[in-house]
Amino acid sequence: MAGGAKKPVNIFRLKNLGEPKEVFNWKLWFAVVSFGLMGAARGIDEGLISGAFNSKDFQRYINYSSYSKVEQTNIKANVSSMVQIGSVGGALFAFLVCDRIGRIWATRQLCLFWIVGAAIFMGNNGNLGAVYAGRFIAGLGVGQTVVVAPVYLAEIAPAAIRGLCTCVFTGFVYLGIVLAYFANYGCQVNMGDNTHKRWEVPTSLHVIFAGLIFCLSFFQYESPRYLIKSGQVDKAISNLSRIRNLPADHEYVVREIAAIQTAHQMEMEATMGAGPLGIIKETFMIPSNLYRIYLALMAQILSQWSGAGSITVYATDLFKLLGVTGSNENLLVTAVFGIVKLVAAILCALFLVDVIGRKRALLIGITLQAISMFYIAGFLTAVPEMGVVKDFKLPESKKGASEGAIAMIYLSGFGWALGWNSMQYLLTAELFPLRIRALATSLAMTLHFANQYGNSRAVPNMLLPVSEGGISPKGTFWFFGVITLIGGVWVWFSIPETAGRTLESMDRLFELPWYKIGRYGNRDAEERDQVVDEKMEAMTSQLGTSQHVERQDASTRV
Ligand SMILES: *[C@@H]1O[C@H](CO)[C@@H](O)[C@H](O)[C@H]1NC(C)=O
Ligand SMILES: *[C@@H]1O[C@H](CO)[C@@H](O)[C@H](O)[C@H]1NC(C)=O
Repeated sequence: MAGGAKKPVNIFRLKNLGEPKEVFNWKLWFAVVSFGLMGAARGIDEGLISGAFNSKDFQRYINYSSYSKVEQTNIKANVSSMVQIGSVGGALFAFLVCDRIGRIWATRQLCLFWIVGAAIFMGNNGNLGAVYAGRFIAGLGVGQTVVVAPVYLAEIAPAAIRGLCTCVFTGFVYLGIVLAYFANYGCQVNMGDNTHKRWEVPTSLHVIFAGLIFCLSFFQYESPRYLIKSGQVDKAISNLSRIRNLPADHEYVVREIAAIQTAHQMEMEATMGAGPLGIIKETFMIPSNLYRIYLALMAQILSQWSGAGSITVYATDLFKLLGVTGSNENLLVTAVFGIVKLVAAILCALFLVDVIGRKRALLIGITLQAISMFYIAGFLTAVPEMGVVKDFKLPESKKGASEGAIAMIYLSGFGWALGWNSMQYLLTAELFPLRIRALATSLAMTLHFANQYGNSRAVPNMLLPVSEGGISPKGTFWFFGVITLIGGVWVWFSIPETAGRTLESMDRLFELPWYKIGRYGNRDAEERDQVVDEKMEAMTSQLGTSQHVERQDASTRV
C-alpha cells in the first residue's frame, strides 16, 4: 500500500534507533505534556462557544433578543468565528515570534493574548463590540499554539517517538473539547440557565489553561534547534544535554548537535539571501521545499473540507438532524462524541504513528471517514425528509438506520482523530528544513484556520434545502464523502513516510521528481541513507576510530 513496500520490510517501522535509555526521561515527558497542553486551547474554544450561546443568561448579557432573526444568526456566526479570524493573524504572526524570541518566549507571549482576550470577553457588560474584540484577541493567542507547540515538540523529541510526542498536542485538543462539553453539561444541569456562572465557569477554563501553560513554561528548556539556528551553540548543547538527561560530552548529544549543525550549515549554503525575504525565496524557489509546501497546503484543504471539523463544531445540530431529540440527551451524545475522538487520538499517538507509520495511519483514518460519510449520505438520500421537513417523525422501520447513522458520526470522528487531524500538525511540523520551518508551519496553519473558518461558515448554508440556496443535508454528506475519497487517493500518491527519520535527514525523501516522491521517496531515501552510512563508515575507519561504527550508522539514518 505505502510507497515502495515491495521488499518484505517489517510492517512495524519503529526502528531501533540506538537511543540510550536516559533519553526517555521525565524531563522530556514533562516538556511534552506542558507544551501539549496548548492543544486544549482550540478544543476548549470549539466546545464552549455554542454552549454559551444556548444559555439564556449569555443571551441577556449581549441583549440577543433585541435583534432580528437575521441579525441573530449573523451575531452568532460572528462571535463564533472571531477566534478563527484572530487565529489566522496569530498563525501568520507566530513565525516571526517563533524565530525571533524563541519557542519558549513565544509560548509565554501567546498565553498573555489568550488570557487578556478571555478576560475582555467575560468582563465587559455585554457590549457586542467588546465581545468581538475579546474573542479576536484570544484568537491571536490561540492561533499561535498550532505553530509553536508542534514545532517545539517535533524539535525536542527523539526521532523514534517524535510522532507520539507531537500527537500529544492533538490528544489535548480533544481533552479540551471533552472538558468543555462536560463543563457546559454540568453547569447547565447544576446551575440552571439563569446565572452568569452558567457560561462564565466554563469560559474560565481558558484562563486556567493559559495560566497553567504560562507558569509551566518557566520550567522548560529552549529548543536546541532554535538555539543553533540563532547561533547560540553553547546554550544549545547545555539545553539538549538537560532534555536528553545525558552529560554534554556524551556521544549521543555530540552527534545530535553535530547533525543539527551540519544540516543548518548546508541550509545556510543554499540560502538565497539574508533576512525574512531570503527565507521566503528559499521556501518557494527550491523545488524540494516547494513540494513540501504543496503537501502541507493540500493537506489542510483536503482535511478541512472532508467535513470532520464542522462535524465537531455543529455536532449538536447534526445529531439532531439524524434523530437525537431532547436537549440534555443531545448534549450528552455530543460529550460522548468528544470522548470517542479523544480515545482515537490517544490510540493514534501511542500505537500508530511511530509504529505502523504516518501514511498507513492516515489512510486507515481516511477510509473510516469515507465509509461513514457515504453511509450517512445514503441514509439521508433514503429518508430525504430528515432535517428538511419540520417536525418530521421518523418511521419505526427506519429507526435502526438512524441509529446506524449516529454511530457513523462517531466512526467518522474516530477516523478523523486517527488520521487527518493528527497528521496535519505532525507532518507540517516535521517536513521542513530548520531555516524555513517556522515560516512554512505558519503558512500551513494560516490556511488551516482560513479553511476552517470558510468551512464552518459554509456548512450551515450548505445544509439548507436546495430551494433556499443550499445543497440539502444529503448533498452536504455526499460532498464530504467525495472530498474524503479524493484525499485518500492524494495521500497514497503524494506523501512519503516520515516515521523514524531525524528532522535532519528529511531532505532525502524529496530528491526524486515530484510525481514519484509519494510512492518511491522512501525507497530512494533509504538508498541515500546507505550511501551516507558507507561514507561515514569509510571516514571512521580511515581515522582509525572504528569503535562506534554501528551506532553511527544509526545516527546518520535517523
Ligand atoms: C458580522 O460581521 C460582518 C463582517 O464580517 C459585518 O459586516 C456584520 O455587520 C457583523 N454583524 C453584526 C450583527 O455585528
Ligand atoms: C537554555 O537556553 C536558554 C536560552 O534560551 C538559556 O538562557 C539557558 O541558560 C539554557 N539552559 C541551560 C541549562 O543551559
